[in-house]
Amino acid sequence: MRQDRRPYWVKKNYLSFRRWYANHFLRPACDELGDHHTIMKPWYVDISGPNISIGQCATIIGEPSDRVKLGVWGREPDQGELRIGDYVLISPGCRISAGDKIIIGDSVMMANGVYITDSDWHGVYDRAHRTDEIAPVVIKDNVWLGDGSKVLKGVTIGENSIVAAGAVVTKNVAANVVVAGNPAKVVKELDTEREMVTRKEYFADPLGQERFFDAVDQAVLKENTWLNWLRAVISPNKHD
Ligand SMILES: CC(C)(COP(=O)(O)OP(=O)(O)OC[C@H]1O[C@@H](n2cnc3c(N)ncnc32)[C@H](O)[C@@H]1OP(=O)(O)O)[C@@H](O)C(=O)NCCC(=O)NCCS
Repeated sequence: MRQDRRPYWVKKNYLSFRRWYANHFLRPACDELGDHHTIMKPWYVDISGPNISIGQCATIIGEPSDRVKLGVWGREPDQGELRIGDYVLISPGCRISAGDKIIIGDSVMMANGVYITDSDWHGVYDRAHRTDEIAPVVIKDNVWLGDGSKVLKGVTIGENSIVAAGAVVTKNVAANVVVAGNPAKVVKELDTEREMVTRKEYFADPLGQERFFDAVDQAVLKENTWLNWLRAVISPNKHD
């Protein structure tokens, strides 16, 4: 479908159901899931394990072919943690697997298919057991992880830095740089004199923003009738 044929109230009810689903099924899976979240298709978001928290204004996008998977598999029951800050973006296909500790700051953006792990999960010479090495991952505020990038054990990525699409990060990354390639290397320094607009600013007034998008929906969908919507669902044509 190229057009949204839903009458306003159909979309409004869908959004209410989506929010209810996230609060009913995903919130209890977390120590904390902050307010003002936008979790699209939350039925394709898996959250498993203890000590997981997600701050406010999170945008998480599940897709049937690209589920989001956030998990903690500690060495003992109740061990291990995954702390995700405010205003983060988690795109389809992102996987975050914490064995010990993964800390993700505010306004961090994760593009499709990002993988973050703090463990190799098997030893190089002992393939049967988990290694004793503990190597937390820390991703500081406003980091942008590009499409399909991977962040491996023990890495700290400094504030504002960008990991280019497809990069594999195996060593610490300084603040305010762009890294690319496998293994990732610095390819560019950011101009710290320039003003940076982050997701924190974008979500400065979450309630106002919700009202704004609701008004947009009312304006855009107001001509849509129930009959034409049902017709488009059952028998769509190229104008739909
Ligand atoms: C990281 C990124 C934003 C940097 O963009 P940019 O600042 O315009 O960077 P440039 O194009 O100037 O590239 C700088 C250098 O890095 C190299 N480079 C950039 N991206 C690269 C990548 N993914 N892999 C390898 N090298 C890369 C460029 O070839 C260039 O090398 P050179 O200096 O030898 O010519 C961009 O390359 C990128 O990866 N975009 C994808 C973002 C994404 O995943 N978006 C999804 C939505 S969230």
